[in-house]
Amino acid sequence: MTNKIFFIANWKMFGDLKSLKSIKRVINLSKKKKFLNAKIIYCPPYTLLNSFVIKTKKSRITVGAQNCHHKIDPGPYTGSISSNMIKKIGAKYVIIGHSENRLNGDTNEEINKKIQSAISNNLSVIFCIGENMTEKKNKKTNLVLRNQINLGLRKIKKIDKIIFAYEPIWSIGTGKIMSNNELKKQILNIKNILKNKFKKQKNRIVYGGSVNDKNIINLKQIKEINGFLVGGASQNSNKFIDIIEKTIN
Ligand code: PGA
Repeated sequence: MTNKIFFIANWKMFGDLKSLKSIKRVINLSKKKKFLNAKIIYCPPYTLLNSFVIKTKKSRITVGAQNCHHKIDPGPYTGSISSNMIKKIGAKYVIIGHSENRLNGDTNEEINKKIQSAISNNLSVIFCIGENMTEKKNKKTNLVLRNQINLGLRKIKKIDKIIFAYEPIWSIGTGKIMSNNELKKQILNIKNILKNKFKKQKNRIVYGGSVNDKNIINLKQIKEINGFLVGGASQNSNKFIDIIEKTIN
């Protein structure tokens, strides 16, 4: 299991073949020695997975998908992609449980099936968890996170192929971020839940939600965080590089 700092670029429903050119600088920089400690994972839309795999082939950058269907075998699921297809195209990761997909109907049970399918195909999972504003205001964060973890990881015995992404929903794309003290408290809380459930197994937790090239200076102070899941700011290579450089320097 790597001790590197994760920088996961979630491109969401953005990007075309032209925007693929912009990652050239990231690829070149990633080959430099000072980037050795950074684990860069690009998660473009499905339409660009193949191109990203080809383009990043001779670099240390890895590619992931943004979601998958829970069924492993091919079948009549219009518009869906299985973890097996993602694996075969050469991607190594898949984001599962992103709040934007939970909003589209992904329940904890569905997410659990997706995680099982991804792991059975030897993909690593970026498992998103997080509370919304109402839950936060009602002091339900702890309960929500515990439920997402317990139900999402039912039947999962090992977490070496899972990266936990703590993404408070109210922080995603809003520019709002909790204080470092509060964030550290939540990360330790998640670690505690994982320790109870998975005993001595090592866990890796990244933070996501409005991470940018300015607030990274502050966020990187939290040593309990193993990296960042970056949405909007990752689509601009200069900003993404800035985030990486400011964290590892
Ligand atoms: P954001 O998105 O960085 O634009 O807030 C993060 C995410 O949704 O993964």
